[in-house]
Amino acid sequence: MNINERRDILVTCGPGLKDYLVGELEDLGFEVVSSQVGSVVTRGSFVDCMKLNICLRTAYNVLYLLRQFRCGSTEALYKQAGQIAWEKIISPDEHVCVLSKVDTWTVDNSMYPNMKVKDAIVDRISRKVGARPDSGKDRGGVVVNLFWKRDKAWIYLNTSGAKLSDRNYRKMPGKAPLRESLAAGIIMATGYDGSGNLVLPMCGSGTLAIEAAMIAECRGAGSLRSNFGFQHVKVFDEEVWQDIRREFRKKIRRGAVKKRIIATDIDERAIAAARQNAMTAGVEHLIDFSVCDFAETIVPEGGGILVMNPEYGQRLGEIAELEGVYRRMGEFMKRKCAGYTGYIFSGNKELSVKIGLKASRRMVFFNGNIECRLLKYELYAGSR
Ligand SMILES: C[S@@+](CC[C@H](N)C(=O)[O-])C[C@H]1O[C@@H](n2cnc3c(N)ncnc32)[C@H](O)[C@@H]1O
Repeated sequence: MNINERRDILVTCGPGLKDYLVGELEDLGFEVVSSQVGSVVTRGSFVDCMKLNICLRTAYNVLYLLRQFRCGSTEALYKQAGQIAWEKIISPDEHVCVLSKVDTWTVDNSMYPNMKVKDAIVDRISRKVGARPDSGKDRGGVVVNLFWKRDKAWIYLNTSGAKLSDRNYRKMPGKAPLRESLAAGIIMATGYDGSGNLVLPMCGSGTLAIEAAMIAECRGAGSLRSNFGFQHVKVFDEEVWQDIRREFRKKIRRGAVKKRIIATDIDERAIAAARQNAMTAGVEHLIDFSVCDFAETIVPEGGGILVMNPEYGQRLGEIAELEGVYRRMGEFMKRKCAGYTGYIFSGNKELSVKIGLKASRRMVFFNGNIECRLLKYELYAGSR
């Protein structure tokens, strides 16, 4: 495999984040060939994949196309998968994980095709080099993705390995934390760039604050990770990788956060976790953390952006209790946040109505499989 050969790259993401991912790819100078819910197709080399892994904030996985073919049976799948020169990609000392997404009438679940691709890989390596790699569910080594839709199949090398939303800074997750890629999408939707005030009551484990600081300072989302799928393939070149890392470090805009980010939570343990996570991410010096009820958060003069991610409850009792919280959030924004643009991220429409202010925009996101809204409020003095 030539690391400079341009091929299709499929970048996957959470539902609701596709448009942000398209924006990120375009900003990086990548052409967008096509996009659909949960993924974007671009083109580039294996080296480009390494770059994408370090900088993409809203992506899950960067997949480099190895082979696409017509496929009408699991026998054909085994044969076609076995045409790939796996012995040039995977060493027998490595561990291989195959992930499959199958939507075809030929089989009714993805387990069997998954096993067929795994067999094709290990059988070919065994035939060519006399030893076979281990395989299983662990995504810490080489990861291969199969997509089989009707009579078409694609086999990709997953250059990310574990999802890129696992940035490696959140050692302490706290209660109902947002996935890092979703938090980045929310911050992107607010347009925050570090120049103005950013106030984050109910910050929990600090994901929004940390992602905001990383976005403003142009810190690579993957810069804290020590393990990517691409590091486990035979063509991986440590020197090229270190050059990419050095280039990205040069792009960090220290000083871009002009006003310190304010992050508060009523739970002492959440603030301790947030502080620890921010320290791991290297952005703790940009954030003022404190423990208080959201309504006691100090909101600096001069306007800015305010984002709150309240709980949205599962059970009836919880929801009834939260009604008062949502009502108070509306009061807080109205009384204390004039001049700000307020955002509330919630997965409960009925509760959101209790805020009692008119949203100027509603942006749809998904937290896991819960459809959520990022509600935007222009908080002019005396708004209702
Ligand atoms: C859904 S979690 C936020 C998760 C956060 N976005 C993250 O990624 O970790 C809601 C947070 O609101 C906090 N909270 C609940 N009631 C509060 C109140 N009255 N004042 C301040 N914080 C509150 C909880 O302690 C919890 O950390």
